[in-house]
Amino acid sequence: MVLAAAATTPVGAAASSAAAAAAAAASSSGITINLNLSVSIWSLIVYAIIGMIASYVWSMRARKLPGLPTYGFVPFFGNFFGLLANRHRTWDWIADIANGPMRGKTWQMSVPNSPIIIQAAPSEQITKLVLKDHFENYLVSKRRMEWTHELFGNGIFGSNGKEWLVQRKAASNIFTLRLLRDGMTPVFVEHCMTVVKVLKETAKKGGAIDLQDVFFRFTMQSFCQIAFGEDLDCLSSPEQHPFAKSFDAVQAGVLTRVFDLFWKLKRALNVGAEAAIKKHVSIINQYASLFIAHRRDDIAQGKNREDLISHFMSWARKSEKREMTDTELRDVIINFLVAGRDTTAVALSWFWYEMSQHPNEMAKVKAEIEQLMHDHADSVPDFEVARDMTYTEAALLESLRLHPPVPAEGRVVCSVVLSLVLL
Ligand code: HEM
Repeated sequence: MVLAAAATTPVGAAASSAAAAAAAAASSSGITINLNLSVSIWSLIVYAIIGMIASYVWSMRARKLPGLPTYGFVPFFGNFFGLLANRHRTWDWIADIANGPMRGKTWQMSVPNSPIIIQAAPSEQITKLVLKDHFENYLVSKRRMEWTHELFGNGIFGSNGKEWLVQRKAASNIFTLRLLRDGMTPVFVEHCMTVVKVLKETAKKGGAIDLQDVFFRFTMQSFCQIAFGEDLDCLSSPEQHPFAKSFDAVQAGVLTRVFDLFWKLKRALNVGAEAAIKKHVSIINQYASLFIAHRRDDIAQGKNREDLISHFMSWARKSEKREMTDTELRDVIINFLVAGRDTTAVALSWFWYEMSQHPNEMAKVKAEIEQLMHDHADSVPDFEVARDMTYTEAALLESLRLHPPVPAEGRVVCSVVLSLVLL
């Protein structure tokens, strides 16, 4: 009855006659009004759900931040289509814009759910502001932490604030010039000699070799020895060590999460890439525990070791008067492995690519090394002689400038909640 009284418009009039008919029927059966009421409650619920979904979708729209120019911004989608079309060359595409229409400017790119400010101009002030002066305001995002949690744990790349600071302090205490000279250089030189042997054998046979694969094996071999104090024989054996295989598989696996909206569901169901991540993380952790147990045994037997596990354990004992747990040690070491291994392999690959493209510069590098090695008693370069290779160092730095192994650095600005990418 109330429904019929409320109707005043033609549409309402139709509704009112329907309601009147319903009321008439109600007087005979006594149930139709309840049915009508439940129908309208259901429509309200449906409208509410549609409204909620629409407002959620709207809240995800690409946003423009005031005061900063945009490039190729499409309403709602922002730069999504540009990124999608250039997904095979993301950094080159962004660099093209940075060097072209946005040259010298700080500008913004936007995708649904995330405004991003790009700082591509080599402005020292902004870099110093983010990485030094107001470091505490620029955090690793929760999203990145979630994507990489199984790999980084609470290590230096998986933490912010105090937790990060403790590890940073430990790292700066441990990474001394002495460790670099006496602990790390001999390991690199030893495995460099194996690389030379592998290359000579290939040259003798006259076949081709994938240099990038050799460098990834070389850095895995060297960094595992430096970090864990273990020889995984990555260079000579054609089959990769299970730890090395799983380490690569987890790194590739967590990358798939960046582009997969349903990765959490897949992780819950343990299917696809998520099942592989789980399997390989478990293998990594088993080996890490084994290596840590070996080092604890060595220390118990009074052996003096130069690997990072041993250094971190003795640092915690001296500075914090405590023993580090296996999980803490695992996190520290895996983070260093990720930090040093791929970056160095990529840097070496690009350097040799550039050398192959610039034979004159390669001849100068070769001449400098030959001259310095000629005056050197030993047949292998050491830390001191490498420091005198100024032309070689300049060539390496130029290659790093052209092909940075870490092409961008993303941070979330905590006070305004937006992302900043330094190119
Ligand atoms: C060409 C080689 C390398 C490049 C281009 C490079 C580049 C970078 C960049 C850009 C960051 C900042 C990443 C971030 O905060 O998300 C970083 C952090 C770091 N790198 Fe390297 N890196 C190289 C080699 C190494 C090596 C050999 C080691 C160790 C043995 C190492 C250890 C670290 C550590 C521990 C951090 C974290 C620092 C922190 O958060 O305070 N890196 N590196």
